[in-house]
Amino acid sequence: MIRDSEIALRFPENFLWGSATASHQVEGWNHLNDWWIHEQAGRLPFQSGVACEQLQRYGDDFQLMRQLGHNAHRLSIEWSRIEPRIGEFDHQAIDHYRRVVESVRANGMEPLVTLHHFTSPAWLARGGGWTRSATPELFARYVRQVVSAMKDIVQYWVTINEPTVYTFQGYVFGVWPPHRYDPVHGIRVMRTMALAHGRAYHAIHDLQPDAQVGVAHHWRVFDPYRSGHAADVRVANTRDWINNRWFPLAIQTGQLLPPLGRGRKIDWLANTEDWVGVNYYTREFCQFAPGQPLDGFSRDPQPKVERNQLGWEIYPEGLYRALIAAAPPGSGKRIIVTENGVPEAGDSDVVRPRYLVQHLAAAHRALQEGVKLEGYCYWSSIDNFEWAEGFAPRFGLVHVDYATQERTPKPSAKLYRDIIRRGGITTDELERFQVSVPG
Ligand code: FCB
Repeated sequence: MIRDSEIALRFPENFLWGSATASHQVEGWNHLNDWWIHEQAGRLPFQSGVACEQLQRYGDDFQLMRQLGHNAHRLSIEWSRIEPRIGEFDHQAIDHYRRVVESVRANGMEPLVTLHHFTSPAWLARGGGWTRSATPELFARYVRQVVSAMKDIVQYWVTINEPTVYTFQGYVFGVWPPHRYDPVHGIRVMRTMALAHGRAYHAIHDLQPDAQVGVAHHWRVFDPYRSGHAADVRVANTRDWINNRWFPLAIQTGQLLPPLGRGRKIDWLANTEDWVGVNYYTREFCQFAPGQPLDGFSRDPQPKVERNQLGWEIYPEGLYRALIAAAPPGSGKRIIVTENGVPEAGDSDVVRPRYLVQHLAAAHRALQEGVKLEGYCYWSSIDNFEWAEGFAPRFGLVHVDYATQERTPKPSAKLYRDIIRRGGITTDELERFQVSVPG
């Protein structure tokens, strides 16, 4: 039994403690979307296949999350299942997702529901996808179908997951569908996504005035490699602008600033964010590199720092910095960490416990400084299909044996459960995981 006095970092009473997933990464057999088409055509190194079979196993998975103490759960709805052909809505699929969300609630968790998490219906992609000016209205039409069916059971909506990552991976670096190397189209995609978010925001509020609508922004910290070196500072600021600022600003002010547009203000796009979602994983160092225009004339010289299995720096302070930057104290903005996590190989869970405690401590520091942080979703509930990296990077709190689909909670899942149960981190945990709390 932990006494209250031993809790060093206490979180607010009604804090949302959860974990996150996305449809294509866990459901399996998502054969109606663009990722599946590219996987089958051999344009991606791995195939998602049956993934974690969560399409059938969601009830058991949510029960497990409940046992692990979670009171919130973020998941996504697969547009291609709801609208398999343009204009044709599959009511069985809508009923399915309603049952999924009901199951989240029945297990005592608050659902956070994402409406677009990287995958798009194959028909949309064939018709030009997110480069087309008709797409925001098509997205809003799909959103209306979903919200009409679930407005009594979903409060928190995430319209789009990580518009910047989607754009860069698919249209600038060409490593994700539709595999384009075309920054001009990339800019158009970013703009279309901002407009689609705005349309969806109003579609949701028309049907459900008290809904809480946000976006899950990928927030990455950029620091100059040589501190004080003018060109490195400039490229770090440019990358920060493009990756972290343009999209939130567009939907907060309604203004499409460069590279999105020439500053035109769209009134209906302004103030279309009830809360800010932040996905935080890492920091990048920026060294001026004239030959790298697509990377903002910057390269990461990869200094020797602690890195995860995918080579991303493990930098807990970055979460504190991201929260302060995305929802500055005094701004009145409410914020939720919609993703934060670390992969490990096989059934290893050596890095994750420390990662978890250090990042929660960083989040707590932001809270103490006045950031209105309302929740934290660890990425991910269970090991899953990590996009172009396949199944090897395992982010889960729960291990998945892909041969048998057996789920086994990792030690970090139990550590997280204990933190949730007592509502904070103990002095002992801070010591054990080498967290120094700024005095
Ligand atoms: C984020 C994605 C999520 C997952 C994590 C590791 O960029 O939103 O689907 O792949 O990275």
